[in-house]
Amino acid sequence: MHSLAIPLVRHGVAVEPLYRQIVDAIERDIASGRFCTGDRLPSMRTLARQLDVARKTVLAAFTELEKRGRITRSPRSGSFIADVAPGPMAVRAREMARLPRFDHARIALPDRPVSARATFDLLGGIPALDAAPTVELARALRRSVTRDRGKTLIDYGDARGHKRLRAALTSWLARTRGLSVGIDGVQVVRGAQNGFYLAGRALLSRGDRVATESYLHPSVRALFRLLEVEVVPIPIDDAGMQISALEQLDADRRIRAVYTTPHHQLPSTVTLSPPRRKRLLELARDRRWMIFEDDYDHEFQYAGHPILPLAHQDRHGVVIYVGTLSKVVAPGLRIAFVAAPPPVIARIAEYRRFVDVQGDQILESAIADLLDDGDIERHVRRSLRLYRARRDALCEALAADLPMLRFTPPTGGMALWARAPGIDVDAWTRNALLHGVSFQPASLFACGDVPLDHARIGFAACSEARLREAVRLMARALPGHSNRR
Ligand SMILES: Cc1ncc(COP(=O)(O)O)c(C=O)c1O
Repeated sequence: MHSLAIPLVRHGVAVEPLYRQIVDAIERDIASGRFCTGDRLPSMRTLARQLDVARKTVLAAFTELEKRGRITRSPRSGSFIADVAPGPMAVRAREMARLPRFDHARIALPDRPVSARATFDLLGGIPALDAAPTVELARALRRSVTRDRGKTLIDYGDARGHKRLRAALTSWLARTRGLSVGIDGVQVVRGAQNGFYLAGRALLSRGDRVATESYLHPSVRALFRLLEVEVVPIPIDDAGMQISALEQLDADRRIRAVYTTPHHQLPSTVTLSPPRRKRLLELARDRRWMIFEDDYDHEFQYAGHPILPLAHQDRHGVVIYVGTLSKVVAPGLRIAFVAAPPPVIARIAEYRRFVDVQGDQILESAIADLLDDGDIERHVRRSLRLYRARRDALCEALAADLPMLRFTPPTGGMALWARAPGIDVDAWTRNALLHGVSFQPASLFACGDVPLDHARIGFAACSEARLREAVRLMARALPGHSNRR
């Protein structure tokens, strides 16, 4: 809320009435850009006290401002600056954009892919934030800051990430994924998105061809657009990416890299089969492709153990493996990692040095403690139990309230992929949002020629009771739902 210091002239010849002086002052502030649309004004009582005037003077001023369309008033929430004409800053920005060299939109940015959040968040990538180990994190952060009186942690550091975290990650990756990378083979980054961006900038050139699965995470697709590489979609089936199609395609259109989510293809959840994994690695070796492996939800496997990543089988240094704590702990941490041969890591770090210098060493050191003390592995075990129960609750609720959906309960991940035959899924998700539920239509991920009658429905972030309520709302939001059961 803005404070209003209005110098009122109270005595003299031809003095303006006080309420007019208040009106003029607020109009001047709007014109100068001090006030913007939506800014809240102090209450009448507060303003009367601040300006040492009667409340009815302020009331007269606000009434006049409202009449002139400068403010809106509501008895409950107060008075706000109305949708006013653009202030001088906005006018200046518009003028500036007309000058050729100040055309900031000259370099087109990809559309920002947003999935709207709602009261019931059934977005597939959001973990249970209320279960995150924040007490342990707070303790570890405190230790971090006080350790060595924080001195080394607030200094410039290694662009590859804090050494303690790289060491902790190295042993965690060996324990959980069978990856044997040394400390020089690990790069800490600010989220998987940042990892792919840095790796892409460091290793790809504009115009390079990157093969991807034909459903692709929209943020990753936007990233490739930003990198100005050509995305070549490869069809998928029940065994994951069709490697034979990839092989054929490369014969006439040389590709440089393959981006893949082999553990649980996003969003279809299928796992790349062992023979295809083997063939992909052979082809990458023979044809000198880089494989960007996005193992975004490695931990979440409900039946048996997680499938070991492609990087585990990589004997030729072709895989650039990216994992993230965004799903394991929380996306706001912005902690992820790239594991690759040391020369690749050195190049990524070199690039990072120019654009980001380094990461947040205090946080990195705290996360190292959580890994070393077993807090993260304990949290993963708790999350697995929680998410398995939530998955089951979602499947039951869908079977009861939306029996027309076709899906196989996923063996892993944080979301299920359901076919909605004959339903306009885009219209459904839009309608569901109006009912307070967010989930994702296939069109959000479509990259090649793929069926669009599917939806991705997440279960990790909502309690079982809330999932049941959300599914009831989804059923109500079905286009033409009354005649569908
Ligand atoms: C497949 C995939 N890759 C990458 C990301 C980005 O993760 P991060 O939050 O670590 O940047 C996500 C997040 O939703 C994802 O689902």
